[in-house]
Amino acid sequence: KKLIIINGPNLNLLGTREPDLYGSLSLHEFLDAIIKKYPTVEIAHFQSNIEGELISKIQEVGFSYDGIVLNAAAYTHTSVGIGDAVKAIKTPVVEVHISNTFAREEFRHHSFIAPHAKGIIVGFGLQSYELAIQSFLEIPS
Ligand code: DQA
Repeated sequence: KKLIIINGPNLNLLGTREPDLYGSLSLHEFLDAIIKKYPTVEIAHFQSNIEGELISKIQEVGFSYDGIVLNAAAYTHTSVGIGDAVKAIKTPVVEVHISNTFAREEFRHHSFIAPHAKGIIVGFGLQSYELAIQSFLEIPS
């Protein structure tokens, strides 16, 4: 299987940014660990702070990969364009969030991606990503 983890704005600061909420591992430490843990799965990664770059990446992988694990971070709650991109592609998308967005501010309760996602995994820390990977391996689409 060929999967990609796509991370949106500020997730490049994982480990230093609000560690109580988002954990103390850096993005690269976390990715290295997850790639090692699933040696038979091809796991690519892309991070951008720029909305259009995220849309271009979703379009680029969205007709050939087996799954996209997408944490669009703050753009989840604001981006009609990312929601439309997820709707436009063939590859199933699992939306993930590290924190439980429903236990936070009201503006984090809405997602433009969720209506077009295969499923949503929210609030399990960095393990949200791993659960999403497992969903692609264990649950048929
Ligand atoms: C987040 C939740 C978003 O509301 C926030 O803007 C983020 C991270 C999460 O993974 O918990 O940047 O997507």
